[in-house]
Amino acid sequence: MDRSRLIKLIITFTLLSVSSCGAADWWEDSSLYQIYPRSWKDSNGDGIGDLNGITEKLEYLKEIGITATWLSPIFKSPMSDFGYDISNFYEVDPIFGTLDDFDALIKKAKKIGIKIILDFVPNHSSDECEWFQKSIERKDGYENFYVWENGFDDPKNPGKKLPPSNWVSIFGGKMWTWNEKRQQFYLHQFQAKQPDLNYKNPKVREEMLKVLKFWLDRGVDGFRIDAVPHIFEKVNDDGTYPDEPLSGATSDPDSYDYLTHIYTKDQYETVEVIYEWRAFLNQYQKEHGGETRILLAEAYSPIDVIDQYFGNGTHFGAHIPFNFNLMGLRGSSNARDLERSINSWMEVMWAKHKTANWVLGNHDNSRIATNFGNHKVDLVNVIITALPGATVTYYGEEIGMSNVKTECTEISCDDRDPERTPFQWSDGKSAGFSSSSKTWLPIADDYKKVNVKVERGADRSTLNVFKGLQKLKRSSAYKAFKEDGGWSYSAINDEVFQVIRSSSKEEYRILVNFGEKLEEVGPLINSVNSDEHVMEYFLLTSNSPHRIGEKVNLNNIYLMPFEAVVLRRKIRN
Ligand code: GLC
Repeated sequence: MDRSRLIKLIITFTLLSVSSCGAADWWEDSSLYQIYPRSWKDSNGDGIGDLNGITEKLEYLKEIGITATWLSPIFKSPMSDFGYDISNFYEVDPIFGTLDDFDALIKKAKKIGIKIILDFVPNHSSDECEWFQKSIERKDGYENFYVWENGFDDPKNPGKKLPPSNWVSIFGGKMWTWNEKRQQFYLHQFQAKQPDLNYKNPKVREEMLKVLKFWLDRGVDGFRIDAVPHIFEKVNDDGTYPDEPLSGATSDPDSYDYLTHIYTKDQYETVEVIYEWRAFLNQYQKEHGGETRILLAEAYSPIDVIDQYFGNGTHFGAHIPFNFNLMGLRGSSNARDLERSINSWMEVMWAKHKTANWVLGNHDNSRIATNFGNHKVDLVNVIITALPGATVTYYGEEIGMSNVKTECTEISCDDRDPERTPFQWSDGKSAGFSSSSKTWLPIADDYKKVNVKVERGADRSTLNVFKGLQKLKRSSAYKAFKEDGGWSYSAINDEVFQVIRSSSKEEYRILVNFGEKLEEVGPLINSVNSDEHVMEYFLLTSNSPHRIGEKVNLNNIYLMPFEAVVLRRKIRN
């Protein structure tokens, strides 16, 4: 049997066995949306987005069909990594507002039915965090809050020290920085301003549970766990740190790619700590009631490791370990590349755990329009909503925002700035993002055309296609495939990708042409029942010459270059 048939069989079998499990929990097929708070909506005219801005615009998420939004960090921070360097895990940074503003956001979110998920950054704090300052001073209880080590005497420079291992940090340069006061090196997987917390210390683990509880008590619906693979590092039995082998990929010893990260990534203890956090959330729900609080895990790791982060059969970890596979595709990728990319998730995660999620973009990666080309934004939005499971949309992808050329300023000089520019609400001043004409990153040149206001009014705009897709995703017939029907996906040729979803009442076919040529496909069905050959256009993208409701015969169907369509057929019982 060929591999793709085998996968389809496994999937069908799995689907049959799910059918008796009852309704899905809210997160399983949720539509998640990432807000980068600095860039979504500025309410006080300082050119930087804030919590009140999010509260003010929350209805927009409802309008576009979002279930839950995860916010990049809003906590007290010197902003060396824009909030991923936390100096107080229990406070809101004044740039974003106050705890009262946060409570007001939660209150409104609950009222209108949007779930709020916070970013939990457990791997490190800021070097300006009180814990680190106390650790430098070896204050009682904080001596081992971080990873400290003596290093070695440098034979070439008497009086100088060499770091404990050859490890290179993710942002480049040594993973160990010397602290004069403490006379030791400290470990940092990211910037030197982001010292790693020491998870071998039970006090650190306790403190982080307190952090989770603090925000759960304020009503959050879950957490996105930052930088999961980097939580633990290998320590030898004698307390030394083993060097990592050279990768051969680059000759630059300061580059993260210089080494193969067998001792600083995806260590087995990391899996355990994720299970610990999940158990904590489950227990919280038991004690406090309410709906499931979820964990999303950021792990750029191989699928067998992602599998572990999800669970091992007896223990559960993250409900949604992000699936970044699709972000690996580029403009030149075709339907077959897409199929391969989807398979690599489905073969493990769906086949074993019946779970899937599809991430298109985040604040660390180039935008879809820039990666795939503007004309493919709708296509990938169609694909991720056609597939089963949760979708994760980075703010701006629903309107087709592009990367923006940015220059270093006093505020920011990060190579990820281009995908972090202000959200484009309208064609007005500063794209409706801020009342100030000075925004922390520049507004995109295309904002007059690419913005919420204009796209609301254009029939087949990226925004309206997105909204139509979300509506479809929530419709009972479309969802019902899991309970009483089936589904499949495949590349029908190099350029055309098809997803079928059917219940006992309706069948949907989603067809996407990734190519720049007109494609004729068919027959797409070999049933003798001619009723089954005719479908109607149900949802169309801007490249489509058809009209909603128009009939189409599956024996011969053509797709314009970069056209994506959803077809529907009612099933007569
Ligand atoms: C994660 C974040 C990234 C941040 C890093 C360090 O990868 O997504 O933005 O720089 O962690 O916290």
